[in-house]
Amino acid sequence: MRSPVFVLLALLSAVVVNAHFQLAFPPPRGVFDEDNEPHLCDGYTSVASNRTDFPLSGGFFSLNSEHPQWTAGVTLSTKANPTSFDDFSLVNTFFQVNGEGAFCIPLDLKSSNFTGLQDGQNVTIEIVFSGGDGQLYQCADVTLRNNFNISSSVSCTNATGSSNKPSGAIVRSSSSVPAIAAVMAVVSMALLA
Ligand SMILES: *[C@@H]1O[C@H](CO)[C@@H](O)[C@H](O)[C@H]1NC(C)=O
Ligand SMILES: *[C@@H]1O[C@H](CO)[C@@H](O)[C@H](O)[C@H]1NC(C)=O
Ligand SMILES: *[C@@H]1O[C@H](CO)[C@@H](O)[C@H](O)[C@H]1NC(C)=O
Ligand SMILES: *[C@@H]1O[C@H](CO)[C@@H](O)[C@H](O)[C@H]1NC(C)=O
Ligand SMILES: *[C@@H]1O[C@H](CO)[C@@H](O)[C@H](O)[C@H]1NC(C)=O
Repeated sequence: MRSPVFVLLALLSAVVVNAHFQLAFPPPRGVFDEDNEPHLCDGYTSVASNRTDFPLSGGFFSLNSEHPQWTAGVTLSTKANPTSFDDFSLVNTFFQVNGEGAFCIPLDLKSSNFTGLQDGQNVTIEIVFSGGDGQLYQCADVTLRNNFNISSSVSCTNATGSSNKPSGAIVRSSSSVPAIAAVMAVVSMALLA
């Protein structure tokens, strides 16, 4: 018979795997596909024909994090149709954020480590996100623009109370709290039996 602790770990990892992130801006290649997010470009392997204009200077990307503590990085490909991780190079150093919910992160390509980008160039931006259960990926196909401002209708805000949360907190998205509580209850009963 499997030990209750094993069952607990198995169930907890199943819960944690459900926590992901959703890229909001620039809009991703396709609708968020939870099961495919551990794969290149969330499983969307063909470049989108409807690209988003993205500024060379003063840009940002925004996402929703379902993890309370996470690291993220931005990679970029100048290939017309990037199909592997090798086609992407790191734009910035990975950074860590504490907090769940909406986040808006500055992305100034002109002052980044990715040189040679030009006005009118088609590139693919891939956001790499890690909340403690493996890396997740979403891509956006964009056209770079000089002297261009992202529309003020695009939301750029951070979740309130997002900074300086204690580290090591368990996943607390609304869907996983009841799941963890249920697991705990089952395991307690198993241990008491
Ligand atoms: C591109 O078009 C598809 C299909 O209409 C849509 O689902 C997707 O959100 C669009 N992507 C962008 C970046 O506008
Ligand atoms: C960039 O992509 C757009 C839309 O897919 C396309 O119409 C345009 O020709 C491309 N530009 C270049 C320089 O490849
Ligand atoms: C570029 O790379 C250097 C060295 O790795 C790093 O210190 C710097 O923060 C990077 N720049 C950006 C914008 O991430
Ligand atoms: C972008 O916004 C800045 C600050 O509001 C403004 O000075 C600039 O003229 C705008 N650029 C364009 C191309 O609209
Ligand atoms: C949101 O938080 C991130 C990470 O701490 C920070 O880099 C960014 O500037 C913040 N964005 C806004 C709009 O405050």
